[in-house]
Amino acid sequence: MSETVWDNIYKEYLAGGPAWATLTDDMHIGFLTFIEESTFPVKFALDIGCGQGKYLKYLQEKGFKTTGLDSSESAIKMTNDLLHNQGEFIIADMYKYQYPVSTYDLIISHATLHHGKKKNVIALLDRIYDSLMINGKIFISLPNDDCKKNWAMMAEHETLDDGTCIPVTGPEKGLPHSFYSREEIDALFSRYSNLEVYIDERGRWIITGEKSKGTFMKPIRNSVKAIIINNGKVLLTKNRDDKGFFYLFPGGGQNPGEELKNTLVRECIEEVNQEVDIGELVFIREYIGENHEFSKFDYDVHQVEFYFNCKLKSEEVNPTINNGSIPDAYQVGVEWIEISKLDTIRLYPKILANKLKDNILGPCYLGDVN
Ligand SMILES: C[S@@+](CC[C@H](N)C(=O)[O-])C[C@H]1O[C@@H](n2cnc3c(N)ncnc32)[C@H](O)[C@@H]1O
Repeated sequence: MSETVWDNIYKEYLAGGPAWATLTDDMHIGFLTFIEESTFPVKFALDIGCGQGKYLKYLQEKGFKTTGLDSSESAIKMTNDLLHNQGEFIIADMYKYQYPVSTYDLIISHATLHHGKKKNVIALLDRIYDSLMINGKIFISLPNDDCKKNWAMMAEHETLDDGTCIPVTGPEKGLPHSFYSREEIDALFSRYSNLEVYIDERGRWIITGEKSKGTFMKPIRNSVKAIIINNGKVLLTKNRDDKGFFYLFPGGGQNPGEELKNTLVRECIEEVNQEVDIGELVFIREYIGENHEFSKFDYDVHQVEFYFNCKLKSEEVNPTINNGSIPDAYQVGVEWIEISKLDTIRLYPKILANKLKDNILGPCYLGDVN
């Protein structure tokens, strides 16, 4: 719906029709001030709902590499022309697009994010947060609750269950608009540091903030893993990412109220389709994501892993075990790997390759290693 409504507005404008809403506006003064007063070490910006591209043009002149996203093909065409084809252009619905994680040091969205139901806007704000790199900043506008009565286009509208309004006349007829109270804005942006929020002369919340290291960490997670050895081989899950295959010990996260040993029995059925007998606790390893290879993605992860010596219940040890009933997202299979060859594969945590090769089951506490 939003694609069509705005695409029609742009098409009419390009054909000599009226300039609706932001089409002939200058850039927001708050945006210009924010950019002037902030630092951007990487200078990679995303504009969500870039319209005809004026914000992106300004950012390119300031040395930014840019990505412009809009659901309207005409908008992207105008942006492309204005930027002489420089930068990345994405025609997509902002609520459905898969944003790359930890990528931008600036994400802006002016007069756009509210064009959907509140639950979609809330989910999108989560993705925006994930798409920012540490120290990345936002400049976002969202309409204040009062706009519902003050904006002429809302003179006649329908209201959905969740408070989202749909104008029934005018160029934005049929397009959902959601409005936000101060409490909602505070809750939605509470993860940001240096947060500044004010209402501009059109009744829009102007929100700027920064994603800071350590402002938001996921709760510490317990995970429990099985070391299953038979005939000089260890049973591992085989996984694949953009660098190729990597291997992990079977196991996973403890659920509230679940004893670690029960977690391990459940996880082994889910991942390697095998019932296990659980022996001694042999290693405890921590994984503090920001200190390791995948800090770009795992900066907010802190996991404590408990490794138990285990044996398969089944006497018959099938060397070509398939995936379990609920394999991990990256899991592509299960393999018995020769312990003597563990240093030839990508195994996490790496430290266990040498421990197993040397047959050293200690010290138990390994610390924060990968
Ligand atoms: C009011 S205009 C603002 C344009 C620009 N940000 C500006 O301030 O000049 C809203 C923009 O959001 C885009 N838009 C609306 N809904 C969208 C959606 N679901 N996904 C992507 N873009 C959308 C429209 O095509 C339009 O370009």
